[in-house]
Amino acid sequence: MRTTALLLVASLASALLAGTAVRTLASSSASSPMPSPVERGKYLVASMACNDCHTPWTMGPQGPMPDMTRELSGHPAGLSLATPPVANADWPTSASATMTAWSGPWGTSFTANLTPDRETGLGSWTTEEFLAAMRTGRHQGRGRAILPPMPWTMIRNLDDQDLGAIFAYLQSIPSISNRVPEPLPPSAQ
Ligand code: HEC
Repeated sequence: MRTTALLLVASLASALLAGTAVRTLASSSASSPMPSPVERGKYLVASMACNDCHTPWTMGPQGPMPDMTRELSGHPAGLSLATPPVANADWPTSASATMTAWSGPWGTSFTANLTPDRETGLGSWTTEEFLAAMRTGRHQGRGRAILPPMPWTMIRNLDDQDLGAIFAYLQSIPSISNRVPEPLPPSAQ
């Protein structure tokens, strides 16, 4: 009789514990819900080097760093740069100190303003145009070829959801008016 009572208590206790475990699981999944597209896009942009090229670099206390007050606003309009160093077969590419102007066999390219400014950034773009640009390597998916070193051949491997999330994040950041110059052909370097 005593043994039966003990067994009953033990099984009741384990049933209670099991219930607690289920509740803990349920509450831990409730506390980490799926990120919103903007949160997911922020994570992807931070992990995929967009700031390395699209945010102008400046000298910080620990050396050069992206100037986040100009987050993703592209090559600063009106910045005057000396002519790039003469390239040779071993060293074909050079980058400006801002990391926003790049010279190579393709000419000189300037990184685009990715903020939602309607005139000079991506404010007038649709999600479809952004996806098409990243997938085809053409401006807005239909214009001229997007020049190096824009790594669209890497970025195109993301699925539609992740590319859409990147675009949603880019549309959520502060809008900065900055008209990036057109690229220069190799002859103009
Ligand atoms: C290694 C440097 C580099 C990195 C990293 C980079 N970009 Fe670019 N990006 C460029 C350059 C340079 C251009 C301008 C190319 C041109 O004018 O043809 C550009 C252009 C663009 C454009 C304009 C395309 C168009 O259709 O006109 C978009 C949008 C863009 N980048 C988004 C991104 C995003 C999003 C990321 C991060 C996931 C990123 N870039 C990472 C260098 C870079």
